[in-house]
Amino acid sequence: MLMQAVVLLLGLAVSCRSQFVPPTVNISLDEDPEVRWDPLVKVFDVDYLRKAAAEFIDTSVPKWLHQAVTPLVKDLEKYIPQPYAGEIRGLGSHLGSAADVMILNFAYEISAFCTSIVAQDKKGNVYHGRNLDYPHSVLRNLTMNVIFLKNGKVAYTGTSFAGYIGLWTGQSPNKFTVSGDQRGSEHWWNWWKNVVSALILRRSPVSWLVRETLAEAEDFQDAVMRLAKIPIITGVYYIVGGVRAGEGVVITRDRMGPADIWPLEPVNGAWYRVETNFDHWLPPPARDHRRDAANKALNATGQENINMETLYQVLSLYPVCNGITVYTTIMSAAAPDKYNSLIRPQGCQPN
Ligand SMILES: *[C@@H]1O[C@H](CO)[C@@H](O)[C@H](O)[C@H]1NC(C)=O
Ligand SMILES: *[C@@H]1O[C@H](CO)[C@@H](O)[C@H](O)[C@H]1NC(C)=O
Ligand SMILES: *[C@@H]1O[C@H](CO)[C@@H](O)[C@H](O)[C@H]1NC(C)=O
Repeated sequence: MLMQAVVLLLGLAVSCRSQFVPPTVNISLDEDPEVRWDPLVKVFDVDYLRKAAAEFIDTSVPKWLHQAVTPLVKDLEKYIPQPYAGEIRGLGSHLGSAADVMILNFAYEISAFCTSIVAQDKKGNVYHGRNLDYPHSVLRNLTMNVIFLKNGKVAYTGTSFAGYIGLWTGQSPNKFTVSGDQRGSEHWWNWWKNVVSALILRRSPVSWLVRETLAEAEDFQDAVMRLAKIPIITGVYYIVGGVRAGEGVVITRDRMGPADIWPLEPVNGAWYRVETNFDHWLPPPARDHRRDAANKALNATGQENINMETLYQVLSLYPVCNGITVYTTIMSAAAPDKYNSLIRPQGCQPN
């Protein structure tokens, strides 16, 4: 067991070089939605952002859709609630057009592959880690930490991409942490259904519900209730960590409500939960070894050795971290200052 752990650590020392911390953007929620993202252009080069957005749209979005969305954007407020409509409009003034920003926000929504882990040590401290995998390497240059401020205080924090207003990874300090992993095998050519679902049926994109929950939920319990119940545009896994022993859960979501709730059960030896992109009660596809590799690495680490550092090491192990891994975040709601995201410039390759 110990030997396994040592081998694990040595192997990782090599593959962990050259990760770097993304830039931080402070967004004041006291500012009007249309201007609150202005600080973005102090941190990122606007020309680069425009080019990246245009390239992303060219390679990911059918032309007809681009044309279909453009007229809708004039009446954005009719279809999309505030503050999102205002934020999209404001970002549009920097990045090209509000139509482009809206398309970007819905196109990202569909193909985030991921691994999330929530774990508890022997003292009852809860740790939460996630890899965000996405097959588009430009996102590494667009990754940022965002601090959302209200009345000058940190309301919540997250890691996201420049131009994207939702959150897939976030922390409400001293309350809970949350990450989202894509569920199921929806194909990119179906993602326009999400646009229809959001615009016509007025359901939240999954990353907007994360942001709302970070903004509004009182504690872990409240966050879990909201993330389990509020209708969203597509299925997803929400992984939530709290501040007290036992506060860790994987929520498997259908559009209208929970399909399954899978909590930590430390008294029964279940001190961690691993979620990738498949229902935990079913075997993953034969070619996808992320879940098994993460389980093995956590078993080898052991509950007595789990902490933010060893959790990062588990998330650095191939294929848990792989060629399309964009960033890794390690967080613990009870220690909000230790929130840490690192970009993986080349992803991870097999040793
Ligand atoms: C962002 O907000 C944090 C928290 O209030 C603060 O410590 C930091 O200095 C701010 N950074 C900038 C660039 O304003
Ligand atoms: C990301 O930025 C680096 C440094 O500016 C640049 O060399 C690289 O080409 C960029 N990558 C992409 C995919 O745009
Ligand atoms: C990890 O340990 C648990 C509990 O002992 C065991 O049920 C599970 O099969 C192990 N998983 C792997 C991949 O070794």
